[in-house]
Amino acid sequence: FRRVLFRSISHPHALFLYSMSLNSLPIGIFDSGVGGLTVYRALHDRLPNEHFIYLGDTARVPYGTKSLATVERYAIENSQFLASLGIKMLVVACNTASALALPKIRENIGIDVVGVIGPGGRRAVELTRDSPNPKVGVIATEATVESRAYLEAVKRVSETTKVFQAGCPLFVSLAEEGWTHEAETRSIARRYLMDMKIFAPDALVLGCTHYPILRDVIQQTIGENVKLIDSGEATADEVVALLKEKGLENPN
Ligand code: DGL
Repeated sequence: FRRVLFRSISHPHALFLYSMSLNSLPIGIFDSGVGGLTVYRALHDRLPNEHFIYLGDTARVPYGTKSLATVERYAIENSQFLASLGIKMLVVACNTASALALPKIRENIGIDVVGVIGPGGRRAVELTRDSPNPKVGVIATEATVESRAYLEAVKRVSETTKVFQAGCPLFVSLAEEGWTHEAETRSIARRYLMDMKIFAPDALVLGCTHYPILRDVIQQTIGENVKLIDSGEATADEVVALLKEKGLENPN
């Protein structure tokens, strides 16, 4: 593709050919495993004209228990691989990779990159704005919690919103296993969310791609009055807006 693109640019109809080919390129998505398919589904529902390439790094999952250097290396390798296939935009569906490696990814590939943390944080502030004392809970992998990326994303848009985070590492394996409604899942959820229930958030961010798969159990455990925020859904809305803003939509 790059060779064709290079030849096109030196052709008299260069600009036309260039914009046509760029718009019809797929959007690349990567996650550490199958969880990012929740982000893919949200994107696919909103963008039926677009093509997607999904990379699930199932050989190296989980990312959430690994060091910053390792997650950065995996994230750059995944991004460069997808970029080499010819994509017009990259969506980093993995919360852990978004929290730890977004600046490094942006340094290494020359296309628009969208992560899931910013959109999830902004959606949380939007949905709790009317509360007199806005409180946002975040559940995520240990690495995402330690990075404080969600905390900073919320603080960037609202200084007054209180944020409480909890790491829920076993949720990843339960989701990969498909144990969505088992007694063990309920009991682990009760334990992980004990302090979160005391914090009593108005909204709870599902800050890991795997957690929407356990949505029912999480909602029942935290309480039906707490709004669950799927960062993938919030990200998909921002990708739609960005494609429009950059004139990158596929017209066909
Ligand atoms: N995909 C990762 C995330 O969203 C969760 C699984 C993992 O630990 O790799 O943070």
